Amino acid sequence: MKGISRNQFLKFISVAMAAGLTKNIFPDKMSEILKRKIPKTGEEIPAIGMGTWKTFDVSLTSEVRERLIEVLRIFRSMGGKVIDSSTMYGKAENVVGELLKNLDRKDFFLATKVWTHGKENGQKQIAESFDKMNVGVMDLFQVHNLSDIKTQLSTLYNLKEKGKIRYIGITHYVSSAFSEIEKIMQTEKIDFIQIPYSIALRDAERRILPVAGDSNIAVLVNRPFEGGDLFSRMRNRSIPPIAQEIGCTTWAQIFLKFILSEPNVTCVIPATGNPKHIRENMEAGTGKFPDKKQRDEIVKSVSF
Ligand SMILES: NC(=O)c1ccc[n+]([C@@H]2O[C@H](COP(=O)([O-])OP(=O)(O)OC[C@H]3O[C@@H](n4cnc5c(N)ncnc54)[C@H](OP(=O)(O)O)[C@@H]3O)[C@@H](O)[C@H]2O)c1
Repeated sequence: MKGISRNQFLKFISVAMAAGLTKNIFPDKMSEILKRKIPKTGEEIPAIGMGTWKTFDVSLTSEVRERLIEVLRIFRSMGGKVIDSSTMYGKAENVVGELLKNLDRKDFFLATKVWTHGKENGQKQIAESFDKMNVGVMDLFQVHNLSDIKTQLSTLYNLKEKGKIRYIGITHYVSSAFSEIEKIMQTEKIDFIQIPYSIALRDAERRILPVAGDSNIAVLVNRPFEGGDLFSRMRNRSIPPIAQEIGCTTWAQIFLKFILSEPNVTCVIPATGNPKHIRENMEAGTGKFPDKKQRDEIVKSVSF
């Protein structure tokens, strides 16, 4: 380091630490992110991941490329790993594959989805996803919205046996699909489900989350902000006093901590293309999480 000795530097850091200033010096360092186990294997993944619907379905102009690389860099440096995409999300799989060329594939847990009917269509689409995301092995392959579920699952079982896929899952985004999801959890050899769950849509608490827990199935939570609608609903409303008790400074963090206080949730996947928002979302994976009483208070404070 130029113009400053090692001792001077260490002294400067210790004074800065004592004054609580290191967050500004090392902005991406923070307490460790919550990790949860994938029940079938015991492998741990960080409990906050990232979705790519809309936010990564973009043309990579140099401005967009720079911004999304920054999002991924912050995500990774704050302990993030799980990225969820789908063949249904336009350019998103290509964009993930392209941007990960600047980063280390091994640092990420990549998930995507097949969304079609028919065996051959499914096999073709799955092969294309491997190419678009530029991977040899996919961490998680899911059947999107339960489309042609039996046919697509049989292809995925086959690929898992061959070591091309590490985990298999199914997804939906509406709670009217929960009874079918429940049946599939009890009859198929799946590792993950991906379902909607948020402070405004709590149906999953009644049956799906307990059944997933009893069946050793990991749970990814999609639409944690109801696609962003929760922010419009809370516009002009300040965060409640309970926020301070659980270390939240924004509504986004309250919504994410509320979801993660459910022990059967393995990972929540908010989508963002904004570097400020990814930082805020990742911070929600650290520190305290609401207990039962605090959860009730959060629910009262939103009063939808
Ligand atoms: N059937 C399925 O399998 C299915 C269905 C739906 C979703 N999903 C998956 O779940 C992921 C998440 O769901 P989603 O994308 O529908 O919606 P979401 O994560 O509930 O909301 C995304 C919206 O919230 C905004 N946002 C994110 N962080 C924020 C923050 N800290 N402060 C303020 N605004 C913030 C984003 O805008 P900015 O970009 O401006 O931050 C974006 O508009 C999807 O991307 C997808 O991977 C799967």
